[in-house]
Amino acid sequence: MPDLPSSHILFGGDYNPEQWPETVWKEDMLLMREAGVNLVSIGIFSWAKLQSAPGVFHFEWMDRLMDLLAENGIWADLATATASPPAWLTCRHPEMLPTLQNGTRLSIGSRQHYNPSSRAYREACAELVRALALRYKDHPALAMWHINNEYACHVPADYGDETAAAFREWLRDRHGSLEKLNESWGTAFWSQHYHEWEEVLPPRATPTFANPGQCLDFQRFCSDALLECCLIEARILREITPSKPITTNFMEWFKPLDYRKWAQCLDFTCLDIYPQPTGPVQTPVKSFDMTRSWSDGKPWVIMEQVTTHVNWRQRNPTKPPGLMRLWSYQAIAHGADGICYFQWRQARAGAEKFHGSMVGHGEPSSQRCYQETKALGNELKGLGRIAGTTFHAEAAIFFDQENWWALEQGSKPNNDLTYVRGVENFHNALHALSIGTDFVFEDSDLSKYKLLFVPCLYMAKPGVAEKIGAFVEAGGTAVITYFSGIVDGNDHIHLGGYPAPFRSLLGLSVEEWAVPQDDLPFKVSVTRQPGLAASYNASFWAEVIRSEGAETMATFSEGYYAGLPAVTRHAFGKGCAWYLGTEFEQAFYDDLLKVLARDTGLTPPLAVPAGVEVTRRTGAGKEFLFLLNQRNEAQSIDLNGLSGTEILTGRQIACSLELAPWGVAIIETAVGSESIE
Ligand code: GAL
Repeated sequence: MPDLPSSHILFGGDYNPEQWPETVWKEDMLLMREAGVNLVSIGIFSWAKLQSAPGVFHFEWMDRLMDLLAENGIWADLATATASPPAWLTCRHPEMLPTLQNGTRLSIGSRQHYNPSSRAYREACAELVRALALRYKDHPALAMWHINNEYACHVPADYGDETAAAFREWLRDRHGSLEKLNESWGTAFWSQHYHEWEEVLPPRATPTFANPGQCLDFQRFCSDALLECCLIEARILREITPSKPITTNFMEWFKPLDYRKWAQCLDFTCLDIYPQPTGPVQTPVKSFDMTRSWSDGKPWVIMEQVTTHVNWRQRNPTKPPGLMRLWSYQAIAHGADGICYFQWRQARAGAEKFHGSMVGHGEPSSQRCYQETKALGNELKGLGRIAGTTFHAEAAIFFDQENWWALEQGSKPNNDLTYVRGVENFHNALHALSIGTDFVFEDSDLSKYKLLFVPCLYMAKPGVAEKIGAFVEAGGTAVITYFSGIVDGNDHIHLGGYPAPFRSLLGLSVEEWAVPQDDLPFKVSVTRQPGLAASYNASFWAEVIRSEGAETMATFSEGYYAGLPAVTRHAFGKGCAWYLGTEFEQAFYDDLLKVLARDTGLTPPLAVPAGVEVTRRTGAGKEFLFLLNQRNEAQSIDLNGLSGTEILTGRQIACSLELAPWGVAIIETAVGSESIE
């Protein structure tokens, strides 16, 4: 697989020069060079400008742009331009417009107005992509391909007739026969049996709950249908430019697409990320960890973030000075090799003219956005040797996209249950302690981890419980939470007592769920475990748990199940498996992690004060220790004997280090430096 250009941290953004006269392009080049820009994503929304009819292309302006980029030493992340079909195409093929669940057909006039299963759309994409690839295959500016743009961000599913036919084909492939489909969807329920394939439809608007198996398969199909669109383009690009890496931009915590599966089809992963910058400042690190993990730790790129503010929330507060820099370094600290933005020059027309950018509407020399961009771009120029190094992680959180779909489908004991909350409980605790964390999936190698967290794994597909069991048996520690191991991959109950696939690993069974009507906290008392408090608040969920060999670590204090286990631990092989039968306040996860980190010998790369994060990237005989002050106040770090070069300032450091508010330091040492361990 082709890799990213090495020896550079990529820096740049979406560039839409077709919205500007060419005289402005010249100024753009000067400013880009001044700001250290080395990569721009071009052509993302240019289809209408590149093609005016079948076979009629207008590449001259793109030729001039590519030449200009090459002359200025700036790489092109060339988009395939298929994200917003031109009006001439949809007028010829109105059937390619998407149909909503209630039958409404969407119109032209914004973007992403296509049905992924539309034959006309797919054929038109293939024609355009082939023409683009042939035109620019040898162009010196071409560094990589950016397929489409944020697939599914506005239209995650289509429910029309062409989709119905494609869904049936997909189902034939998955199930083999109608008989098997009926069995898998449990159609004996509510008289849903299908006698002919033509009767099978996408889950359109229904009087009450649609069939859960049908809904789950439709989510799988929708992700696959878009992936097929992406692959139609990728195959053409790989045929014509086999040495150019291919990507498409992913979004954070985006439910419609199974990005783990998608990432296997791309050369590198990239992320578009727009956290709310005010209030309790959200940290984007769990998205960074996820993006890296989709491709098993390979370097990745922030493809879009914003310098200041977006325009699509009801209110759009701006990032205060310094926060964009901190988050950019935090991405690099978590394995990113590229920092890019939406967008280079702020639009003067259209729906995004109030969206922040690298260059604003006024004079660049007096714009905070441009000054912060320029400062960061010039700093990153000196950090090329970090590119290609690997983030260090010893803990992992198990994640399964299909579980996300199945868990939140409705008609559950508590329909406020969200998968991401379960993930956050653990990720917050791990991040607060600076314990490097990967996400792992059903096909990941778990052998390098000491600790594995498994939140709400409602759907335990074949082999998953065995995989987690083998991890524990070999000496790992796993923490599994409530409502796990309930159904199989078809969303059918695992019979044999909840949580059937995990009972022997956990040494318990769950007799029933006791879901509270409200969100009022209830107490859980810790019965044994130095390091935990005497009691914690819990809420949201409770279970009636019977030990079958597990030790009780904490019990419910209230309800008819008072005195029964709420938290258990069970020795299994050389390791142990914990079970949490309720949803705790964050303090519990923080304290539990301290206990588990002590027991498993997991320590952060350096002891740091609260609010400072430390991460490690290694490779090619070098170690880079990132220190990130996540507070808007200065912090002092005791380096505990560590010495090395702080590479942002070039200073030799020893003893201690001052981090400015939202400040960053990167210490380079030789691999194996004792003080880092
Ligand atoms: C992204 C999209 C960009 C731009 C940006 C604004 O979702 O890919 O094209 O619209 O949002 O925040």
